[in-house]
Amino acid sequence: MKILVTGGAGFIGGNFVHYMVEKYPEDMIVNLDALTYAGNLETCKSVEDANNYKFVKGDIANRDFIFNLFEEEKFDVVINFAAESHVDRSIEDPGIFVQTNVMGTTTLLDACVKYGITRYHQVSTDEVYGDLPLDRPDLFFTEETPLHTSSPYSSSKASADLFVLSYHRTFGLPVSVSRCSNNYGPYHFPEKLIPLMISRALADGSLPVYGNGENVRDWLHVYDHCVAIDLIVRKGRVGEVYNVGGHNERTNLEVVQTILKALDKPESLITYVQDRKGHDMRYAIDPEKLENELGWVPKYNFDTGIQQTIQWYLDNKDWWQNILSGDYQNYFETMYKEKGRV
Ligand code: NAD
Ligand code: DAU
Repeated sequence: MKILVTGGAGFIGGNFVHYMVEKYPEDMIVNLDALTYAGNLETCKSVEDANNYKFVKGDIANRDFIFNLFEEEKFDVVINFAAESHVDRSIEDPGIFVQTNVMGTTTLLDACVKYGITRYHQVSTDEVYGDLPLDRPDLFFTEETPLHTSSPYSSSKASADLFVLSYHRTFGLPVSVSRCSNNYGPYHFPEKLIPLMISRALADGSLPVYGNGENVRDWLHVYDHCVAIDLIVRKGRVGEVYNVGGHNERTNLEVVQTILKALDKPESLITYVQDRKGHDMRYAIDPEKLENELGWVPKYNFDTGIQQTIQWYLDNKDWWQNILSGDYQNYFETMYKEKGRV
């Protein structure tokens, strides 16, 4: 099979590229990424020379480029990770979220209709369901929970989901959608809570906790998300949505305290700062459909996964320090243009 993975130079897409290149040597994995500020080819360094891997630089919302690529490559499967993914950025500048997350998705869908594929998979988020109250721990997001978004980011993702499902109903496109909770693990961009706090704690900087730190997120190791997507694409029913999560709810304060303890840093580094506008209180996924239909079982729980992740950041300082210094943005020029690969 020839599989197009978009956004494969980002956090989850990058982990997925590693997973697929290693697990399916007989498949061809084409990684398409625009290399925005969040795209980092150093994330894909270890698979760069694999025979079943190829990188293409490009924008999923560029119609001519996408149609030409589909015509040339004749993909069997398309898995769309590419997105603007940071909620805080969407509050500052919503437009690019509409452009990439909505227009980019519909451009890919149009190409799939025109050139034909066996599966289009949309990597979505639990944020499309809005949030849950802190005083109702009995409530979880199911696939039937109504869409009720809070931020420009989640609104753009919910819009994309609706387009994907409509292309199934209207054009018979074989689609699936996964909605996952917060991921953590290797190659997580240091603007997001966990890698930001690890990198700042290591530098003895202040750790900015929004509001009172009581907001709850449901953390899943990125490896378990990759396994879930692979299962859904190969065995999940067409036209269906699958929630992905492992029942690992923690308050933000608990997460930050865990990081400080593991790094032997004082809690006095915590600084409470102005809250995020529209800040969702609690996310919590009910993953029963994925478990019962497809036999998905997560490998990691948060307590072991977070320790391994902290160790990864200690062992891979170059990766995130290059990001903080901006050096990672030169990687494409050095590794691809200068070597005549593109
Ligand atoms: P990320 O920001 O780390 O990576 C996004 C990647 O997409 C980057 O490599 C970027 O260069 C690329 N990209 C952005 N715009 C593009 C465009 N127009 N064309 C081509 N490539 C483009 O994001 P992530 O955290 O890895 O998230 C990946 C997907 O998973 C997103 O769709 C996100 O909504 C979803 N998701 C994320 C989480 C999470 O906790 N991070 C949880 C659930 C779902
Ligand atoms: O739930 C899935 C979503 O998880 C994904 O769809 C998004 O792409 C991903 O970015 C993530 O969204 P969050 O907003 O939950 O993640 P973030 O890491 O930005 O924040 C996690 C929590 O930590 C949130 O309650 C806000 C808080 N926070 C975040 C930052 C960056 C802080 O308290 N301080 C911070 O500096």
